[in-house]
Amino acid sequence: MALTNWTRGLVAITIIAVGSALMDDYFDLPGPYCRQRGCCPGRQDDCSVPILGTLCYCDDFCNRTRNEDCCPDFWSHCRGVTPPPIAAPIIGCTYEGTVYPIGKQLKKNCNVCKCERVGMSGDMLCEQHRCIIEPTITDAINSDPSNGWTASNYSEFWGRTLEEGIKLRLGTLQPQRFVMKMTPVRHTYDPQSFPREFESEMKWPRWISGIQDQGWCGSSWAISTAAVASDRFAILSKGREQIMLSAQHLVSCDIRGQQSCNGGYLDRAWSYIRKFGLVDEQCFPYTASNEKCKVLRKGGLAEAKCKLPELVDRRSKYKVAPAYRIGNETDIMHDIMTSGPVQATMKVYHDFFTYKTGIYKHSPLSSADRTGYHSVRIVGWGEEYTSQGVKKYWKVANSWGRLWGDNGYFKIARGTNECEIESFVLGTWPEIENKLLLNNEIRRIRYPK
Ligand SMILES: *[C@@H]1O[C@H](CO)[C@@H](O)[C@H](O)[C@H]1NC(C)=O
Ligand SMILES: *[C@@H]1O[C@H](CO)[C@@H](O)[C@H](O)[C@H]1NC(C)=O
Ligand SMILES: *[C@@H]1O[C@H](CO)[C@@H](O)[C@H](O)[C@H]1NC(C)=O
Repeated sequence: MALTNWTRGLVAITIIAVGSALMDDYFDLPGPYCRQRGCCPGRQDDCSVPILGTLCYCDDFCNRTRNEDCCPDFWSHCRGVTPPPIAAPIIGCTYEGTVYPIGKQLKKNCNVCKCERVGMSGDMLCEQHRCIIEPTITDAINSDPSNGWTASNYSEFWGRTLEEGIKLRLGTLQPQRFVMKMTPVRHTYDPQSFPREFESEMKWPRWISGIQDQGWCGSSWAISTAAVASDRFAILSKGREQIMLSAQHLVSCDIRGQQSCNGGYLDRAWSYIRKFGLVDEQCFPYTASNEKCKVLRKGGLAEAKCKLPELVDRRSKYKVAPAYRIGNETDIMHDIMTSGPVQATMKVYHDFFTYKTGIYKHSPLSSADRTGYHSVRIVGWGEEYTSQGVKKYWKVANSWGRLWGDNGYFKIARGTNECEIESFVLGTWPEIENKLLLNNEIRRIRYPK
C-alpha cells in the first residue's frame, strides 16, 4: 500500500510537470475520461484512466490528499461544476484573426510583436515605433488629388523605423549660424528672359551626373557636394574634365568635425575640397560605410594611386574655389542656367520618403513627426498648369536610387521656400585644368570668358 501511495505521488508530480504544456497545447485532448470510466466515491487508487502516457483519476480524493491529478472531465462529469480556474486553457494570442502560441514573434511593418502570457491568457504586445512607410499617410495623400503629388510604398523603406530613415537616409547637419550669414552673391540678369522650363540634362547632355544611391548611410552631405562639383567640372571644361568625384573620399577623409555616415556640414565639405581636393569615384568608390581614409591629404592623383586622365594634363586632385551662397529664386535659376546644378539643403518631413510623382509639398498630417535635414542637387525648374492655376517647381536629383520617386528625381514647389529648400543654396567654381594632352603634346586650352 505504501508503495502504491508513493507511486501515485510520483504520477501526480509528473502530471503537474506536463501540466503547463498540457494546458497550452493539449487542452482539447479528446476525452471522455471519467464519463467512460465512471466516478468513484472515497479514495480508490485504481479509479484511473490513461492520459498522455500517465494516469488521471476519477475518485473523490483526486483533489484532496495529493496534488491535483483529476481527469479533465472530473469536475464537469463527477461534480457537475465548472472546473477550477487552473484547468482553464491558455490558448495564445488572437491577433488580426489568427491565433499565435505564447512566445511567438512576428514583424508588423517596422515593429516586432510578441505573444506574451498575461494572467491566464495571451496578449500580442508590439513595439510602438513610427515607421518610414505608414499606410495611413500614404492613403491620405493618394486619396486627395489637391495635394498635387502621389505617394508610394517602397519595399526598401518598408519595415524600417522613421528614426532609421532620418538617421541613415539623410545626413546633412543643419548649417551653423555663422554660415547662414554668408552673404549671397549678386547676379545681374533679366528674369523675363528665363525659359519657363530648364533641365541641366538637356542643356548639357552627358556632362551631368546621374542618380546615386547613398544606401543606409547618412552621407547626403558628401554625395550632393561631390555631384555638384563633378557637374561643374564637366560644364566649365566643356566636357574635357568629365569625371565623377568620390563622395566616399569625403565620407572617409573629411572627418574633422564631421560624422561620416551619421551626417556632415556642407561648408566643411566644400572647404575640404578647396584645400585638399578630391579623387575620382573609380579611385575611391562609394561603399556606404565609414571606411578608413586611404588618400593622403598631400600630393596629387599619382600619390593617391589614381589613374591619370587621358584628355588633360592633370596631376593634382580636383579642387574648387570657395563655395558661394545663392540668395533667392531667380538668382538660383540664373546660377543653374549659366553654371550648372546647385546644392540645396531641405527639411525632410515624414511623408517625403513616400514621394512618387507630382509637385511635392509637405502635408500637414506629417508635420508633427520627426524631421531631419538632407542635401540634394537642384538641376532645373518648370511649371505645370493645373485646375488650381500655374504651379512652379524645382526639378531635384535625390540620392535614393532610380527606383525612388520619378526615376530618382522629384519636383518640389518653387518660390515659396517649401521645406526651406531655397534657404541655403550653394554653388562653386571648379579649378579646371587648362592644359590639353594631344598625342603626348601639351597644349594650353583657351576657354571663352
Ligand atoms: C476538492 O473539491 C471540493 C469540491 O469542489 C472542494 O470543496 C475541496 O475544497 C477541494 N479540496 C481541495 C484540497 O482542494
Ligand atoms: C509595402 O511593400 C512591402 C514589401 O514590398 C509589403 O510587404 C507590404 O505589405 C506593402 N505594404 C502595403 C501597405 O502595401
Ligand atoms: C533676388 O535677388 C536679386 C538681387 O541679387 C534681385 O535683383 C531680385 O529681384 C531678387 N528676386 C526675387 C524673386 O526676389
